[in-house]
Amino acid sequence: MTVASSTHHLLGLRGMSHNRLIGLLESAEQLLPIVRGDAEPRDTLEGRIVANLFLENSTRTRVSFTVAAQRLGATTVDLLGSSSSVSKGESLADTARNVAAMGVDAIVIRCSASGGAHLIAQEVDCPVLNAGDGTSEHPTQGLLDMLSLTQAVEKTDLSDLTIGITGDIVRSRVARSAAYAATCLGAHVVFIGPPAMAPSSLEGLLEGVEQNHGGSIAVCHNLDEAIPHLDAVMMLRVQFERGADVTSDYAAMYGLNADRASRLRKEAVVMHPGPINRGLELDDETADGPRSLILDQVSCGVAVRMAVLLEQLGARA
Ligand code: NCD
Repeated sequence: MTVASSTHHLLGLRGMSHNRLIGLLESAEQLLPIVRGDAEPRDTLEGRIVANLFLENSTRTRVSFTVAAQRLGATTVDLLGSSSSVSKGESLADTARNVAAMGVDAIVIRCSASGGAHLIAQEVDCPVLNAGDGTSEHPTQGLLDMLSLTQAVEKTDLSDLTIGITGDIVRSRVARSAAYAATCLGAHVVFIGPPAMAPSSLEGLLEGVEQNHGGSIAVCHNLDEAIPHLDAVMMLRVQFERGADVTSDYAAMYGLNADRASRLRKEAVVMHPGPINRGLELDDETADGPRSLILDQVSCGVAVRMAVLLEQLGARA
């Protein structure tokens, strides 16, 4: 058994140093032209094998890790929940140990257990990249959200920005990772939602995290009150599969529609990690409108995952 060190893996953004965060964003920014088709792919990771262990459903994240690895010359192997021995009762740790014993160079893990990525990191010698573990963290999503946002506002010091993260916060690993990253860059984060989805206890999320850049977290239950103060609004999916329930007025109270979006600041941007419940948290006009960064987030996701693979597999952009 090995001891999980914080930089040998990418397990979460909680407590990540400002230097490492900025370094990853800068590296990803340099790689974006490859994603956009304006520069040639690289062969830096030729001969390396990245194993994607996706024990929960995924569209964007799994394809994005695969494209990122292949754009750098690496080969990928996919093990999906339904076809893996986890469905026969094998433990997460055993599955990871067996995949690592085949000599893969990195394991990308998505699982429903919060803390699952940390568990695996203690069991294997190769780098472990957390692609979303339960309600805990989704670090590459938090990084891609920050890449997309910092590109839009053309700066990495977010200390004069207020970011509203809206919806089912309590069940969202995306909200946690985005909040850790945004506050590390100095932003003021407001979690917005009904009390059951955005309990006041979330204001304590940064307790124990060294904060040198002035970021903060607040909770608000009234989207209309918050809207005129937001520079970015990140809408989240209601996580029905994790037991979420909504009242019939949820869309009216917490959905972002064209009318509400018209009350945002002139330059404010709209984000969503996908998949979108269209008509519930976001209407079509806003999802596909000029403020939307949603598809840009997806492109940034490939660049961020390339940067993380280069960081973890020992090469530089
Ligand atoms: C998110 C996830 O799976 O955590 N999606 C994603 O990775 N792009 C958010 C969600 O499922 O709502």
